Amino acid sequence: MNYRSIFRDDLFAKQTIMVTGGGSGIGRATAIELASLGAHVVLVGRTMEKLTAVSEEIAQLGSESSTFGCNIREEEQVQALFANVLAARGRIHGLVNNAGGQFLSPAEFISKKGFHAVVETNLTGTFLMCREAYNQAMRDNGGVIVNMLMENWRGFPGMVHSAAARAGIENLTKTLAVEWARSGVRINAVAPGLIESSGLDNYPDMAKQFIQNVIKDIPFKRMGTESETAAVIVFLLSPGANYISGESVRIDGASSLWRKTWGIEEHDNAPKPYNGFEQDWFV
Ligand code: ADE
Repeated sequence: MNYRSIFRDDLFAKQTIMVTGGGSGIGRATAIELASLGAHVVLVGRTMEKLTAVSEEIAQLGSESSTFGCNIREEEQVQALFANVLAARGRIHGLVNNAGGQFLSPAEFISKKGFHAVVETNLTGTFLMCREAYNQAMRDNGGVIVNMLMENWRGFPGMVHSAAARAGIENLTKTLAVEWARSGVRINAVAPGLIESSGLDNYPDMAKQFIQNVIKDIPFKRMGTESETAAVIVFLLSPGANYISGESVRIDGASSLWRKTWGIEEHDNAPKPYNGFEQDWFV
């Protein structure tokens, strides 16, 4: 396994960066890219087997990582997580709050329990992770946080719980950017549109058919890649983004800007998909 990042090799040398939900999808790609750039990545999630598998992939790069189990909805677990990571690593330079979850359903069928579960994981979990990162690690040393949104600029029919939670994360990101600027903490977010990621495997076949139709309505006429999402997260973590805080970056092939009032003929002129896992990408 190798990874060809577009950033320079030692960009994150001597840094410890935590990635929640690092066992699959965008979290895995981000963790691997950061490790390829010299970071010690702390993989956080609920399923240790998935974290261990990514840790082994990172070892193949010749990089170090560690794994910590944590349910980000549980306050005590989050507090213990930061205490344990700090005991092991001394410092935490960056945090990627990628972990989250949702399910497709028309709003009228979502129970209070189901709604709360999604809000708790995505919004409350992200808040707890940010708060503990600040209180335990970043208040005195600074640091960088990247949160995960979704492209919900025109609402998100079929996922009202997650769309509402992500809207909350966007505002939380802006608020904390101001509150924690005095500590040298930057906090931003990314808002992926339709990304070809392992997360899509969890959707039923009907949803997969629906996704094929959605692609036709994306100006770029394709899904984004995990690498195209990871690269933006990595940029936001890097010193190149040192004057950016409270911002949300859409990674969506312009899908949030287009409405069906403007016809887009079939084409294959979108920029070539970037995939850092392909060795000949630059050729
Ligand atoms: N990934 C999805 N849900 C999660 C949770 N509650 N805690 C940690 N990682 C997760």
